[in-house]
Amino acid sequence: MSILITLEGGDGSGKSTQARLLSLALIDNGYKVTLLREPGGTKLGENLREILNDSQGNHTALTDMSQLYLFLAARTQLVAERIAPVLSKPNNVIVCDRYIDSTVAYQGYGFGFDIDFIKQANYNAIGNFMPNLTILIDCPIETSIARTLSRTEDVSRFETKPNDFHQRVRSGFIELANENPDRWKIVDGTLDEKTLSQHIFTLALDVINKFDIK
Ligand code: TYD
Repeated sequence: MSILITLEGGDGSGKSTQARLLSLALIDNGYKVTLLREPGGTKLGENLREILNDSQGNHTALTDMSQLYLFLAARTQLVAERIAPVLSKPNNVIVCDRYIDSTVAYQGYGFGFDIDFIKQANYNAIGNFMPNLTILIDCPIETSIARTLSRTEDVSRFETKPNDFHQRVRSGFIELANENPDRWKIVDGTLDEKTLSQHIFTLALDVINKFDIK
């Protein structure tokens, strides 16, 4: 048995830092860990990430629907190339920075695509490779915006989307978490980095022990 832990949250929630800290803490404790991110983690996924982030300004006209399908393409490739092979081995932990729920929160609650359609599309992309634990790093959007604006390379991302978009994404994540409390744990993204990482590590260990991962 192996497990998949996903981290979710809005832009600037500190998720990527926490995914890295969690992986390091688990490795320190002797677990076999694979750290992945979405979109990314495969050659195709990293290329699609570049297109979706559009750092070169070559794809500014991507429609919301095109983006949705690119996120799904990156995901199905990630499952085939990285997630399925690792989960087929015993005693492995995958930590994935964003996964299915980002698409429901962003493309569904944020951009307004039908939620059930996205959930079905996610299921088509991943099959049975559902997360065993999903940690939502919840953060007021004022905090996320302040953090993101301090990382200059990400400024455009917030500037191009109105605050109410980020608000919808945040409440979408909370709704998803409340729908499925067995899988989700919500943590406070305003906590300092170290306190939050210890909290997340404890939540991860609970699930690791439950599945008897060695
Ligand atoms: P990422 O670079 O991981 O941003 P952050 O470091 O803030 O987590 O994510 C890229 C952007 O892509 C982010 O704004 C969220 C968005 N996204 C979606 O809209 N849908 C998705 O399915 C995924 C995986 C990400």
